[in-house]
Amino acid sequence: MSKFIIEGPVKLSGEIDVKGAKNSALKIIPAAILSAKTIHITNLPNIEDIDKSLSLIADLGAEVKRDKSTVTIDPSGINKTELNPVFANKFRASIMFVGPLLARFGEVTFHQPGGCVIGASGRPIDLFIEGFGCLGAEIKYTEEEFYHLKAKKLTGCNYFFNVVSVTATEAMMMTAVLAQGTTTLQNCAMEPEIKSLADYLNKQGAKITGAGTPTIIIEGVDEINAGEFEIIPDRIETGSFAIMAAATRSDIIIKNCHPDHTRVLLNIFNKIGVPFTESKDTLHIKPTDKIKPYSIKTHEYPGFPTDLQSPYTILMTQAEGSSLIHETIYDRRLLYVDMLSQMGADIIMCDPHRIVINGPNQLYGKKLTSPDLRAGITMVISGLIAKGATEIDNIYQIDRGYEDIDGRLRALGADIKRIGTLNL
Ligand code: EPZ
Repeated sequence: MSKFIIEGPVKLSGEIDVKGAKNSALKIIPAAILSAKTIHITNLPNIEDIDKSLSLIADLGAEVKRDKSTVTIDPSGINKTELNPVFANKFRASIMFVGPLLARFGEVTFHQPGGCVIGASGRPIDLFIEGFGCLGAEIKYTEEEFYHLKAKKLTGCNYFFNVVSVTATEAMMMTAVLAQGTTTLQNCAMEPEIKSLADYLNKQGAKITGAGTPTIIIEGVDEINAGEFEIIPDRIETGSFAIMAAATRSDIIIKNCHPDHTRVLLNIFNKIGVPFTESKDTLHIKPTDKIKPYSIKTHEYPGFPTDLQSPYTILMTQAEGSSLIHETIYDRRLLYVDMLSQMGADIIMCDPHRIVINGPNQLYGKKLTSPDLRAGITMVISGLIAKGATEIDNIYQIDRGYEDIDGRLRALGADIKRIGTLNL
């Protein structure tokens, strides 16, 4: 199994480019099924989860041609509507294929999706099943845990999400594009990736209004075209690198990003004394001596993103005082805290969703295993600020979401070695 060895502490310097957003790419690839035409996707991140998504759409019969960060997908050859569990069970976002197959071909078969360890009961899909049922799908569930959905023609409906869900919002929005009549979705997620997807679909003939607000209205159409989709910069990469710069007291310029998509973090930087300047697509983080503590509660966009909760925790271990971190979105998203405590952090687990951090603390290098993607980048940051060597196993979890992370950090002056092949 591949691993990273990181020698710390280190001050970084230089520029780092942000890649395309994983959580946008994982939706636009299945959305290609909604049209019979060829889609051209640019600024695609070169990461494991994208490989899986492209393998899944190729397995359905689409023709996929990839050249580094560009891919063209010709869906006209799609000849099956069953998601191959070999591919689908490896990543949660495979659920995003269900709606477009149902909308375009009138039926779809899939196994309850897999996914990372966060979320107590795996990762529920009740909102998806309920939503597709609301659009008129007939739903069968077999003993072997396969779902079989059928619908001659989907019919627009009014659906209220009992829980704000990013992927369920995206799934219902894109599926309703080909339904007959009007669909009104309420209590929607408002992530920038949702607005970006809606803007693209509208350019191809869909009629979506309200994406990026809690209420989205979709007027169904018979078919849509396909065109070029440029993936927006990854706001979680942007936030992770900004936190890494602050925690290592480094001077780093983060390029090809959208500072506005990380506004909540930048507002907090102003409160805790992390100096930065910003332009339309650049964020320049400057070194600081003193970091003040500031408590956060994760919240749907535009609130503090759950995907930055663990990187922010490591920053608070360097703050001069106590801070409370309250993870409100997921269960089991504080699994990494034990490892930080082993490195010397002073963290009290108040309950499964709340921790208090007392800083500042000198951290010491340790042997770590990454439980999930975002905890993985947190371990990398902890290795950069800890004294001595940090070994991180299971770096597949990091390669899933951060393209060539060790190569990009070495370019900033980090002493990070990858032992074992890059399993891309
Ligand atoms: C998306 O996951 C992202 N993944 C996650 O990023 C991100 O953490 C999350 O949104 C929140 O921002 C992708 O976009 C591929 P949710 P998603 O549905 O859509 C509950 C990363 O590291 N829920 O918004 O799966 C769910 O249990 C990943 O890049 C239901 O109850 O998250 C959770 O408590 C991790 N029933 C809450 O909604 C459902 O049918 C929010 O989850 C669906 C979700």
